[in-house]
Amino acid sequence: MIKIVQPIIEAEEVDGVVAVLKSGIIAQGPVTKEFEENFAKQCGSKFAVATSNGTTALHAALYAAGVSAGDSVITTPFTFVATANAILMQGAKPIFVDVDEETFCINTKLINKAIREDTKALLPVDLYGQPSEVQELESIAKKHSLKLIFDSCQAIGATYNDRPVGSFGDASCFSLYATKNITTGEGGMITTNSEKIFELAKQFRHHGQSESQRYEYLDLGYNYRTTDFASAIGNAQLKKLERFTKARQENAAYYTKSFNNIPGLITPRVAPNRTHVFHQYTLRITEDFPIDRDQFVERLKAKEIMVGVYYPKPLHLFPQFKSLGHREGDFPVAEKLCKEVVSLPVHPLLSETDRQKVVEEIINLSKE
Ligand SMILES: Cc1ncc(COP(=O)(O)O)c(C=O)c1O
Repeated sequence: MIKIVQPIIEAEEVDGVVAVLKSGIIAQGPVTKEFEENFAKQCGSKFAVATSNGTTALHAALYAAGVSAGDSVITTPFTFVATANAILMQGAKPIFVDVDEETFCINTKLINKAIREDTKALLPVDLYGQPSEVQELESIAKKHSLKLIFDSCQAIGATYNDRPVGSFGDASCFSLYATKNITTGEGGMITTNSEKIFELAKQFRHHGQSESQRYEYLDLGYNYRTTDFASAIGNAQLKKLERFTKARQENAAYYTKSFNNIPGLITPRVAPNRTHVFHQYTLRITEDFPIDRDQFVERLKAKEIMVGVYYPKPLHLFPQFKSLGHREGDFPVAEKLCKEVVSLPVHPLLSETDRQKVVEEIINLSKE
């Protein structure tokens, strides 16, 4: 079976965890602080705050940026549910804006007319590992005095105009879940250049407690802390990020070259000013392909090749967003993509034989 994802845990991760377990500090402590500093350096940001997962990173970042009940936040319906759930968790309202058909990221041309009186922030998603259209987003945020928070959960290591993801906007949020390009099992991170956001995110992560005075609570907060053994894994993984990213990019380039000119099969496009870290390598199976996307998934499964559909249903059609009053047809690009996308195994452990087999089987399907 060719797996869609395989975490890479080597000796350094194991040694790091063992050292933490033996140190006597197994909750959040000095190793996490070191991980935050390393992560900030990787992202070219001034500060980083580690959290228990990407969802809590999003929630804490929204809080720290000043989003509260009664506000609205602009995001896309073509993302993992946690993006928009985090907005609801903060008592705010998601405003969905359709995505760009080529990059799968928010269509910045549609944002202006979605901005309302109560709009407080933009929450674009760097989907599959490609940064959003940062420059446009920065200019919209500036013009309308909106906070700009990136859901970069899938995009560690990517760049926009040679600037690393995590260095722009008011804050960026990352997931370190087991399937991500680097992992701590479960984990999250916020990067920011704002000292205020940095301080408020730390406070929120720890029940709203004052940094300087124990058991003094300045506001509502949660337990969104991580552990030092997770951070020990993170420190080891960060050192390998470049190697992992290169392997993903090489696998992606191999696929794109091999799938040149197959009717009905659209390979992912990387915008010229960006680098893509291929958390997912996502094809579109359109009407001109001999079988539809769901058949494509089944046929590859039968050949022992696991593929993934991220995501089969746009967010505006789920019950927790019902009160927004959307229905099918409201976001035509996202809805179409949900029917067309399929992600191939692209992880660094994919062998030459594996990727050859993936290509061969897909070319066979294209000739049916
Ligand atoms: C785009 C996006 N946003 C948010 C999340 C939430 O991260 P986590 O699963 O670590 O809570 C994920 C990861 O699963 C994601 O891919």
